[in-house]
Amino acid sequence: MSDFPTKTSQWVIDSCTGTSGLQLQHDIPLPSIGQHDVLVKIHAASLNARDIQILANKYMWGVTTPVVPLTDCAGQVLSIGSSVTRFKAGDRCASTFHSKWISGNMKSLAQVSQVGAHTDGVLRHYAVFNEEELVKIPSHLSYEEASTLPCAAVTAWNALFGGSTPCKPGDVVLTQGSGGVSLFANQFARAAGAKVIATTGELGGEREAVLEELGATTVLSYRDSDWGIKAKEATGGRGVDIVVEVSGAGEQSAKAIRLGAQIIVIGGSSGSGPSMFDMRSTMGEVRRITVGSRDMFEDMNRAIDVNGIKPVLDPKIWGFNEVKKAYEYAETGNHKGKVVIRIVEGST
Ligand SMILES: NC(=O)c1ccc[n+]([C@@H]2O[C@H](COP(=O)([O-])OP(=O)(O)OC[C@H]3O[C@@H](n4cnc5c(N)ncnc54)[C@H](OP(=O)(O)O)[C@@H]3O)[C@@H](O)[C@H]2O)c1
Repeated sequence: MSDFPTKTSQWVIDSCTGTSGLQLQHDIPLPSIGQHDVLVKIHAASLNARDIQILANKYMWGVTTPVVPLTDCAGQVLSIGSSVTRFKAGDRCASTFHSKWISGNMKSLAQVSQVGAHTDGVLRHYAVFNEEELVKIPSHLSYEEASTLPCAAVTAWNALFGGSTPCKPGDVVLTQGSGGVSLFANQFARAAGAKVIATTGELGGEREAVLEELGATTVLSYRDSDWGIKAKEATGGRGVDIVVEVSGAGEQSAKAIRLGAQIIVIGGSSGSGPSMFDMRSTMGEVRRITVGSRDMFEDMNRAIDVNGIKPVLDPKIWGFNEVKKAYEYAETGNHKGKVVIRIVEGST
């Protein structure tokens, strides 16, 4: 008779109709642990813009309901299958976003598959994963901090270091807004010896202060119709080397860059990124990305470890029974840092 749990509580999205489509379920049987599987006690999970889009039925990659939501979690390995080599009981780990994308470039659409959208996700107390779908987490991070890494941080890492011309010391990186991806991009760029110019919608407030604390030397308002030109002026007229483009404000980004720079297109809340017309006089490169591979996640974790980087969390941490409120809060856009759900009470 095993001492390990055989059932879990979990949240499920029944229908993508806002928080009314979220249901809490109890005593759901866990699958048996196969040869290559790992049983994980999930301590914390975090929300991404993607999760809000899923619940509103606006997610570009689609959703297969019913599904346990969320891709991002951190927890502890309780037991392992007989052939597992990557983990042992007691290891602290995090989930991966594209669980079938291990290394190199994405080679098939099957690798786009995401837990929490196409297969069951991590908003539950226990889950069984294939060992290939997890990474170990940096020892200086709490579970809550580490739960914010799989989507936003890996995306920022891929943007800066996953292409053919990685960010290097002395580069100028432009980030947009103070959301999850942008704050991580700010931290990674600074750790790589780059300078950061940031934008936000709220100058003079807490968001600007956070960006400056992380090392941004200039913070501009993206509500200013000329912010692209002002970003270029802040480089002494040379232009920025890399834009981490989360907003889709391509016309402005193209005005900010130096000749031959890169714009990494990630999100599109206010546009779809630079057009060829925007880019015509820049000789620049546009790269569209989707999060990153497991190898990128592991490379990033080494950098987080060596540089002592700590994710920025919103001060309010939500409980497992407050999931609907956490979603509603994230949807308002009032969060300052990552929105985290504590799954094990008393665990950080
Ligand atoms: N392609 C991918 O792999 C990938 C991965 C992750 C995320 N994304 C996408 O990237 C975007 C950001 O994700 P996130 O997780 O960082 O979101 P988030 O944490 O919810 O933050 C969104 C931020 O966007 C900023 N913002 C709003 N309107 C803006 C505008 N017009 N111009 C510039 N910034 C604006 C706001 O910054 P202020 O509060 O400072 O004003 C806000 O904090 C979303 O669209 C998401 O879907 C894509």
